[in-house]
Amino acid sequence: MGSENTSKLPTHIAIIMDGNGRWAQARGQERREGHRAGVEALRRIVKDCSDLGVHYLTVFSFSTENWGRPRDEVSFLMSLLERYIESDLADLHSEGVRVRVIGRRNGLSDKICRLIDRAESLTANNNRLFFQIAFNYGGREELADAAARLARRAANGTLDPELINGDVFSAELLTAGMPNPDLIIRTSGESRLSNFMLWQGAYSELYFTDVFWPDFVREHMEAAIVHYAERERRFGLVSVSAETD
Ligand code: FPP
Repeated sequence: MGSENTSKLPTHIAIIMDGNGRWAQARGQERREGHRAGVEALRRIVKDCSDLGVHYLTVFSFSTENWGRPRDEVSFLMSLLERYIESDLADLHSEGVRVRVIGRRNGLSDKICRLIDRAESLTANNNRLFFQIAFNYGGREELADAAARLARRAANGTLDPELINGDVFSAELLTAGMPNPDLIIRTSGESRLSNFMLWQGAYSELYFTDVFWPDFVREHMEAAIVHYAERERRFGLVSVSAETD
């Protein structure tokens, strides 16, 4: 990627990793082979983001809706997260990656919860890349949980409802303290957010590509970054040229 394009590198990239099943089907393989190849793609992309100087990466690994998939696929996806943390945590840590897993813990096994805790505490002081895995995550659930916590504090008198604003609300989300994603990428030709980062993505640039997630490599990431660099983000304001007209 030329240096002219790195000046507008997104600080935070979020990815909806879609198309594992179709990737496998197209090869006459079982869906789980697509998920396995999806983990390989994820490993590469984490490294690429780190090399490119992206500071925050969030990936959508398991949605609250994914519980509705066949039971053996659900348990396979659970075991993939387990195995991914077990096999990659040491390398992620030595590469300065800080890991955080966002989503509801209920429904996850004690073993996965322990692994998540270990990954988060081991890497808590790393700062090369902040890598966030959305697992058992749903944007509406995240918003409802935040609203419920604020309502409880208002009801017990520890929060004045008049003081609730966007910043107070953001601080209640699972992503508290993180910048919002500048760029949201979705692979596999679907152009929906599917309950991902509904609040945080309000002003994100969206980039959709037909590439299935297991085939997504650095050149695709660079194309998305170039697309982002060419956009003018106005955050609801007028453009600079219009202002001076
Ligand atoms: C969407 O493909 C992908 C998922 C539901 C799971 C994403 C998981 C990975 C990329 C690997 C897991 C990574 C970790 C760290 C656990 P799909 O199954 O919806 O594909 P389809 O739309 O073609 O059926």
